[in-house]
Amino acid sequence: MLSMLSMQKKIMKFHCIVALDEKLGIGFQGKLPWKLRADMRWFKQTTLGNSTHANVASSSLIMGRKTWLSLSPNYRPLKNRMNIILSRQAQTPSFLTEKEQQSPFVKLAGSLDEALTLSQALEGLPIFVIGGAQIFKLFLSAAHIENLGSLYVTHVKKTFPSDALFPNILQNFQKQRVLDSGEENSLAYEIIEYTGYLSPS
Ligand SMILES: NC(=O)c1ccc[n+]([C@@H]2O[C@H](COP(=O)([O-])OP(=O)(O)OC[C@H]3O[C@@H](n4cnc5c(N)ncnc54)[C@H](OP(=O)(O)O)[C@@H]3O)[C@@H](O)[C@H]2O)c1
Repeated sequence: MLSMLSMQKKIMKFHCIVALDEKLGIGFQGKLPWKLRADMRWFKQTTLGNSTHANVASSSLIMGRKTWLSLSPNYRPLKNRMNIILSRQAQTPSFLTEKEQQSPFVKLAGSLDEALTLSQALEGLPIFVIGGAQIFKLFLSAAHIENLGSLYVTHVKKTFPSDALFPNILQNFQKQRVLDSGEENSLAYEIIEYTGYLSPS
């Protein structure tokens, strides 16, 4: 079934940005399973763009409540980006401090449509869906994947214990380009942009 937003004509594409291991693992016990500074830098650069203005959002980041809580309180909200948190408790957000609730960079959404409406209100700013597993599953479902722009994947070349997985859909995309690769503390990684989703059916 098409969502309300999908039925409207002018839809801004959203991008997904994720780091995953060789078995699609993205998280363990509420945290990232690895420490990879190069990926953190890439995430920051990509979501901030060329922003040089302090206190001006340069993109919208859509994330689940658990991903929000996985961020260090010192880094919440992620600076100069609109942090849109999906939660079914959006009306009574006891997981936010008072300061976080008052921040102009924090918005709560009770549904995917609400998160996209809030993002689209910031006209022209890129929209990045940043996780976690539940949120990727939602945005990359058949009903919404047509609105995906690019899928930016940091492939971490190892397997880690994980309890949060990325959907098993990479084989349905075209590899657009390799953006970076390297090794950090014996951990190899490769950052790839995927586009052109082809439905398996
Ligand atoms: N490797 C990566 O790139 C990456 C990126 C992000 C996160 N992570 C990892 O992923 C893990 C977290 O992922 P997760 O799947 O457990 O949680 P999550 O997707 O971050 O958040 C789940 C929460 O989102 C809300 N939600 C889900 N579907 C919703 C809907 N349809 N409408 C409204 N709200 C909805 C619910 O919040 P309420 O319970 O409040 O209703 C739900 O509990 C952590 O380990 C984190 O470190 C990894």
